[in-house]
Amino acid sequence: MARALLVAALTFCSLFAVQAATLSYTKAYSNFYSGVTWVPEASTCKSIIDTVGLRSTLSNPNLTLTIFVPSDAAFASLAAKLKVSPSSMNANSALMKQVMYYHFVTGSNGAKAVYHSTMLTNGMKLDTMFASPLTKKPYQLTVAVNGTRIQVKSVGTTATVYRPNVKCGAGVAHGIDTVLVPMPLSLIPKF
Ligand SMILES: *[C@@H]1O[C@H](CO)[C@@H](O)[C@H](O)[C@H]1NC(C)=O
Ligand SMILES: *[C@@H]1O[C@H](CO)[C@@H](O)[C@H](O)[C@H]1NC(C)=O
Repeated sequence: MARALLVAALTFCSLFAVQAATLSYTKAYSNFYSGVTWVPEASTCKSIIDTVGLRSTLSNPNLTLTIFVPSDAAFASLAAKLKVSPSSMNANSALMKQVMYYHFVTGSNGAKAVYHSTMLTNGMKLDTMFASPLTKKPYQLTVAVNGTRIQVKSVGTTATVYRPNVKCGAGVAHGIDTVLVPMPLSLIPKF
């Protein structure tokens, strides 16, 4: 009995070791907030996280999420397209909270959704934490993979992953070059 348990435990551990060995991470941090703070080109994203009050949530090391983190250049480019200054865009905290939630990928009913880049496949649909106020259904992102290039398509934009696999506690972050927007850019209300 004890022997069977030991064999089972060893088998489990070796399976885990094989899986862990196939997943390589660019960097590892204890939680999403430290991961985002570290990435030098994500200071806009970090300041938005502070503004919309998500700092303490994202400091929890146990979040089993996948988060796409837009670069500073991505936020600057969105602000230019919307003809607003980056600081006025960041101050619009209601809009920015929705935009941030659209970058947080979850599983349904609390299931884990930790997608290392090797698990992202062409055509895959990802549920986000931004749900439609009417239907309560999560808005989705669509993955497009071509060779080593991984893209994430939102309603309004398409982003390319340029810094994959930053381990953040129990979750993973991927740096992207474009902000994901849940509506066509022309429909974003002026502010
Ligand atoms: C994270 O999980 C560990 C182990 O289950 C638990 O002890 C800890 O309190 C959790 N931390 C938070 C912030 O929920
Ligand atoms: C995939 O990438 C190759 C090489 O860059 C390109 O020629 C091809 O058109 C791409 N396919 C799609 C579906 O985008």
